[in-house]
Amino acid sequence: MSLGTSVVIDLAALRHNFILAARAAPNSKLMAVIKANAYGHGILEVAAALDTADGFAVARLDEAIRLRDAGSDKTILVLTGFNDERELREFSYYDLDAVVHSEYQVELLEACTGISPISVWLKINTGMNRLGIEAADLSRIADRIQLSAKVRLPYKLMTHFSCADDMASDVTQQQINLFDESVAGHAGEQSLANSAGLLGWQYAQRHWVRPGIMLYGGSPFYARKASDDQLKPVMTFSSRVISLRQLTKGQCVGYGASWVAPSACLIATIGAGYGDGYPRHAKTGTPVLINGVQVPVVGRVSMDSMTVDVSQCVGIKLGDKAVLWGEGLPIEQVAADSSTISYELMCGITERVKRIYRSAGNGE
Ligand SMILES: Cc1ncc(COP(=O)(O)O)c(C=O)c1O
Repeated sequence: MSLGTSVVIDLAALRHNFILAARAAPNSKLMAVIKANAYGHGILEVAAALDTADGFAVARLDEAIRLRDAGSDKTILVLTGFNDERELREFSYYDLDAVVHSEYQVELLEACTGISPISVWLKINTGMNRLGIEAADLSRIADRIQLSAKVRLPYKLMTHFSCADDMASDVTQQQINLFDESVAGHAGEQSLANSAGLLGWQYAQRHWVRPGIMLYGGSPFYARKASDDQLKPVMTFSSRVISLRQLTKGQCVGYGASWVAPSACLIATIGAGYGDGYPRHAKTGTPVLINGVQVPVVGRVSMDSMTVDVSQCVGIKLGDKAVLWGEGLPIEQVAADSSTISYELMCGITERVKRIYRSAGNGE
């Protein structure tokens, strides 16, 4: 652990958010998206805590294998599918569900011999233009998949929203319409909704929903706070005050001497920096919570430390806890002040930061 810098992962909050998702989509199966080490929260710990999920979605084959090796017997969907024959064989061996988003994957299926059939989710490009087969190609590709005899039938159908975080945009409805038109006559189960789709577009819920960020207590909507949807933060990132220094007007702080004290002030150095995952681009004024008071970051964030103006913190002392985001300080606020999104901050917590898991009842 570096200088008391840690993330506390509140598994009770995780389960609370999961229950909210399940209640909001009562007729859908719930696939918890736990890619990228469960958005930085620890894939195995999160999977164990969400043992009532109907399935898990990950981005990479090795994440899926880790889950299987740890004993998970649930549906595990790999969102990028397989990229070559070796990977395809692993999908079959580990009984993993694959997203098929491109024709080359169909060719791999056709060419591969001696595997037991796998479950596939045909992903349709409805406007994201990232992964997915074109709506016009769906029937032709579906026919090839059926003929390949390497797929458990019926194949499932999915798409992904590009603008569901914006409730005022009509793009999501257009994506839903295109999806519905293209899958007419295809029998398999459907999945469209990420967190924003689940909460904001009920009609998109279908057989499976795929929430990610909302499980971790991040708001899926850019114009709403997580608490507006009763979501609780799961990750609290904190460190300690490791130095206190009185400055006079005109003295500078940090690399590049970019911040100049406008008047006499008390500066606290916090023992966390971008080497721990705090964003280097956090601008002066980004809030940090110390003893219940929000104080501003001043100067540039360093690798191992950062500086805040604590002139308003009466009685502050060395060792006091500084919450960087989480309980009491919404991650969205820090993300906005750092020109990024909560997802990136959560995923960016580095190896050297100790993760402490807390369930209901066991204190920090
Ligand atoms: C295909 C797919 N489905 C679902 C999700 C979950 O999205 P969110 O975290 O916004 O709920 C993601 C995340 O990027 C994704 O790529």
